[in-house]
Amino acid sequence: MTRHRVVLIGYGAIAAELASALLADGEPGYELGILLRPGSPSRMRVPAVTTALSGLDEVAAFAPDLVIEAAGHGAVRESVPGCLGLGLPVLIASIGALHDEAFFAALVATARKGGGRLLLASGALGGLDYIRAARHARQLSLRYESRKPPAAWSAELQRLGHDPAALPEPVTLFSGTAREAAALYPQNLNVAAALALAGPGFDATGVDVVCDPQADGNMHVVKATSEFGTMSLTIANRPSPGNPKTSWIVGQALLAAVEQHFSPVVML
Ligand SMILES: NC(=O)c1ccc[n+]([C@@H]2O[C@H](COP(=O)([O-])OP(=O)(O)OC[C@H]3O[C@@H](n4cnc5c(N)ncnc54)[C@H](O)[C@@H]3O)[C@@H](O)[C@H]2O)c1
Repeated sequence: MTRHRVVLIGYGAIAAELASALLADGEPGYELGILLRPGSPSRMRVPAVTTALSGLDEVAAFAPDLVIEAAGHGAVRESVPGCLGLGLPVLIASIGALHDEAFFAALVATARKGGGRLLLASGALGGLDYIRAARHARQLSLRYESRKPPAAWSAELQRLGHDPAALPEPVTLFSGTAREAAALYPQNLNVAAALALAGPGFDATGVDVVCDPQADGNMHVVKATSEFGTMSLTIANRPSPGNPKTSWIVGQALLAAVEQHFSPVVML
């Protein structure tokens, strides 16, 4: 069997964890290309068995079966349209980038035209299958709460006059729609964006962002109510050893998505 050919965009905490898991995989195994920006310091860290790529031409020449973005919203804008235009399936972690309606519509149009597919990772969250199943409910109410320790929002707390190191009680930083949340905190609310896209959309998904000195890790609370029933979900994620702002589970969620992509048996 020939090895699966995968391109990773970026080589930060998530991509490095994913790369080592894929390279350790046995049969048929993976051939990895890593797309880096010119002069990226990550070039020194990429494993010698991988192929460093510098642009879309080199991605095309590598001929991947799958491209994976775990590099940030800028990378989605910079590299994903070109990859979709090549007709490639692209799995993205930085889903918050899709809150820009015009950009999202352009990506969908590019995918349709070129035969590519935009695949959205579940990332730090679970339960998206239930939300997708309930999305056509006549009375769906969906609310997401992000509850993190004050250290995760130090700059925002200081701007509001709070001392992040001595917060006596929880502070709600934001309460509104997923569209407003993704625009205000683009790097932090990929989870809200994933929920919105699985469910009733960015304008009908409620979001609360809370700093809580008692928070046990990065907590995600999802509540969905519809004529079909209710869902209440709480996830407390541990930080990634490579990047404390990222939940450790995200690399594993991408690994699971890659396995599904190439598997003869798919759980939807
Ligand atoms: N969906 C989710 O639940 C979820 C959770 C956590 C993180 N994320 C997303 O994953 C991204 C990566 O997370 P991380 O912890 O690995 O971050 P990180 O900061 O450790 O790594 C990001 C890497 O991408 C590189 N990079 C940035 N822009 C690039 C570009 N245009 N082209 C190529 N490389 C580029 C950076 O140099 C860096 O090495 C985050 O920015 C976030 O948007 C999603």
